[in-house]
Amino acid sequence: MPKSLHLYQNQSMSKILIKNIKGLVQAGENFAHTLKGKAMAELPVIENAYLAIENNVIVDYGTMEEWGGIADWRDLEIIDADGKYVLPAFCDSHTHLVFAKSREEEFVDRIKGLTYEEIALKGGGILNSARRLGEKTEDELYQDAMNRVELLKSYGTGAIEIKSGYGLSVEAEIKILRVIQRLKQTAGIPIKATFLGAHAFPKEYKENHRGYIDLIIDEMLPIIGEEKLADYIDVFCERNYFSVEEMEEILLAGKKYGLVPKVHVNQFSVMGGIQKAIELGALSVDHLEEIDENDIVALQNSECMPTLLPSCSHFISIPFGDARRLIEANLPVALASDFNPGTTPTGNLGVVMSLACIKMKLTPEEAINALTINAAYAMGLSDTHGTISLGKSGNLILTKQIPSLAYMAYAFGDNHIERIIGL
Ligand code: NIG
Ligand code: FE
Repeated sequence: MPKSLHLYQNQSMSKILIKNIKGLVQAGENFAHTLKGKAMAELPVIENAYLAIENNVIVDYGTMEEWGGIADWRDLEIIDADGKYVLPAFCDSHTHLVFAKSREEEFVDRIKGLTYEEIALKGGGILNSARRLGEKTEDELYQDAMNRVELLKSYGTGAIEIKSGYGLSVEAEIKILRVIQRLKQTAGIPIKATFLGAHAFPKEYKENHRGYIDLIIDEMLPIIGEEKLADYIDVFCERNYFSVEEMEEILLAGKKYGLVPKVHVNQFSVMGGIQKAIELGALSVDHLEEIDENDIVALQNSECMPTLLPSCSHFISIPFGDARRLIEANLPVALASDFNPGTTPTGNLGVVMSLACIKMKLTPEEAINALTINAAYAMGLSDTHGTISLGKSGNLILTKQIPSLAYMAYAFGDNHIERIIGL
């Protein structure tokens, strides 16, 4: 059994047998860690299947005809999945779900004609959320975030990456990372923490970038390293935020503490951030609403996962990432929610799947692969998540009764998930 699975055993010390499964999706052994290009369209489905889980680990699966029966019926939960599908739980490799307040006033400003960037330049956007963070205690932030995690589980999410970045001071960034650390212990699903102190320059450092970068490197990172508060380091590399050179300095400093880069790049402009992040060993580059040929070539020569965020494009009316161009260039694509109060106020990955199909022209099979196997890779969970394989996590999606897998994306806005198994 993979070591990390021991962490999640407490949530289910019993046995589960799922029978009569209409389609067991992406079940098999020895999958590659990522699916790219044409392979993204392949999604194996075992029809009329069974699946057995013990102590939250997948121990057996196959067709109902192959089923060999049960040796020990004690503590066994039997689920009849007639008409329902079982899939690997979705992995959400990009969220900002620890925040104090929603920002619907900016939403109304955008309806009236302002752009996201104009609102941010007026002191809204990330700085708005950073100002409001102080209004909540660590306990309140934790409770709100936990409620969001529970809601995401009901939409089929079985692993979540969460970023800091609404603190922008030593105290407030550490406060958010401590909340994420508590979530790691209590959420019942894997949580990964990303330090995003370099999300925006606070107002008082607007003309003093050096001062804020020093604060990140000399004050924040040592505490994060000492208390092991993060797995990844992120920078918002964009015009009016952090330059490529500033990103490089911060990522290099983070790497000294073992933090792997995973960055926001190319949301509004092409600046060379993708190439630099890849050079620095980024696990994923996220957003990519704007890309050029140099970005494609850099990605082709890397192990880095391009991660697209269609609900962000939808919500703030910016271009959708060109998923087809990436796939035609034989690259992999992951999808994530980007759940945050400014650009994506929902973490519903069912919505993300539908938008990816409708607006980015992914097939339902490609979208499911982008939310499972490729998304697991983008958050370092390939060994335990992303496919239905022996020894992997038993946190799986059980759908409601639906006519086909494509229906999950087609009937947009409805929740097709009955429950996450094992939780
Ligand atoms: O990924 N683009 C940078 N960060 C967030 C938005 C942050 C905010 O507006 O609060 C994003 O979209
Ligand atoms: Fe984001």
